[in-house]
Amino acid sequence: MEEYNSQSATSFWSADLETGIPVIDEQHRAIAELGDRLVRDPRTALGSETGTSFLQVFYRLLAQHFETEELLMRRLDMPEAQRLAHFQEHSRLLERVVALSMNQIGENGPKTVADITRDLLHIIVEHVIHADHLIPPMAGNSA
Ligand SMILES: [Fe+2]
Ligand SMILES: [Fe+2]
Repeated sequence: MEEYNSQSATSFWSADLETGIPVIDEQHRAIAELGDRLVRDPRTALGSETGTSFLQVFYRLLAQHFETEELLMRRLDMPEAQRLAHFQEHSRLLERVVALSMNQIGENGPKTVADITRDLLHIIVEHVIHADHLIPPMAGNSA
């Protein structure tokens, strides 16, 4: 087994991802940390107890987070088309997690965490960069 010191492992989270909206940043960080914990052992099979329970918890955290974000965005003065596109992207990301949970066997046998790391990166990081960063920053203060 290679040494992977959790302290030095690369994290999905980085300061660049901060939106400046505390509740959103907190949830993003929790989701990224969950992903970090999983990728520490890339050989974990998705169909194993660890893999299955990860995907369940991951889905739940994401769904809760999207709900929070959508509630915030509904109260904001922002272009309707932008809001709808963002909501649709959330639905697509959740569908992707469901697909990952269902497709546990790949061409080379049971899929492992290593096979979905790119998907996780997309779900956790790219959406934040491309969509969440467009949420107006005062959102968190108007509760
Ligand atoms: Fe988000
Ligand atoms: Fe979002």
